[in-house]
Amino acid sequence: MLKKTISLILVAVAAYLLSPSLSTAQPFGYEGVQVCGTCHKTEKQGQQLKIWQESKHANAYKTLLTDEANKLSGDIKAVENPKCLKCHASGHDVSDKKLLGPKFKIEDGVQCETCHGPGSAYKTLKIMKDRSEAVKNGLVVWKDKEEIEKFCVSCHNPESPTYKEFKFAEMWPKIEHKVPKN
Ligand code: HEC
Ligand code: HEC
Ligand code: HEC
Ligand code: HEC
Repeated sequence: MLKKTISLILVAVAAYLLSPSLSTAQPFGYEGVQVCGTCHKTEKQGQQLKIWQESKHANAYKTLLTDEANKLSGDIKAVENPKCLKCHASGHDVSDKKLLGPKFKIEDGVQCETCHGPGSAYKTLKIMKDRSEAVKNGLVVWKDKEEIEKFCVSCHNPESPTYKEFKFAEMWPKIEHKVPKN
């Protein structure tokens, strides 16, 4: 009897440990700017979608289609060169295509989730409204301006074949997209 109870407990523990919903986190998937833009487009929210669309980041992939880019890329086309895609796009290095949502487009270049992290798990209103839940579910945030600058410099650096000196104080206002305070 005791033996049977123990083995039942063991089975229950094993089932708990192996249950897929409880296994260690699934990698987060990319949703695409359209998904983020459904909420982040109103004046009240701060029109992040529009600000991004008007920034050069939105064209970073398209830039790789130009003759200038292909010249810099050497023997292979720039859009097929992982060494260029690395800073000019997201999603190119995702091998499990299930992690790319139906609205995700590599052509969107340096997009919301390139900076904020893939959003499949944090994109719901309930989670978005709770900063710490959002962070647990993959949202990337920064502590201060210094950390933000370091993040920018992870791409804006001399590894870029067309590198121009990166002056954070001038560059940040060009892409800043705040939620207005009321
Ligand atoms: C269903 C609507 C909705 C969707 C979809 C959505 N968001 Fe949000 N997001 C919100 C709301 C609401 C807030 C809270 C804004 C506030 O504090 O006023 C928020 C906050 C944020 C913040 C600020 C977090 C902080 O506290 O610093 C970021 C960054 C963000 N969202 C990025 C994204 C990205 C990237 C996507 C796409 C993957 C996305 N959101 C999709 C509604 C949404
Ligand atoms: C994932 C890589 C990546 C990150 C991170 C990144 N950028 Fe960029 N940025 C690019 C690329 C690539 C371009 C060039 C796009 C083009 O012209 O096609 C660019 C262009 C720009 C431009 C336009 C430059 C011009 O000459 O007008 C500004 C402004 C800018 N970035 C600001 C920033 C700031 C501020 C940050 C940090 C918050 C940042 N970027 C983070 C890749 C990145
Ligand atoms: C380390 C990140 C990084 C890598 C790697 C990178 N780029 Fe860029 N690229 C940038 C950034 C940032 C900019 C914007 C301004 C600058 O040149 O610093 C840019 C701008 C450009 C521009 C536009 C220049 C202009 O005049 O506005 C072209 C073209 C380009 N990159 C092509 C390429 C090609 C081709 C490759 C691969 C061989 C590549 N890049 C690799 C980050 C990168
Ligand atoms: C080049 C990187 C980059 C891209 C692209 C980008 N963001 Fe951000 N975003 C940032 C940084 C850095 C901050 C943090 C600003 C801060 O903490 O002062 C931020 C802040 C935010 C905030 C919070 C603003 C606030 O006032 O609290 C929201 C919301 C947001 N981003 C949404 C988006 C959405 C939606 C997109 C795409 C349409 C997007 N971002 C594209 C880098 C980026």
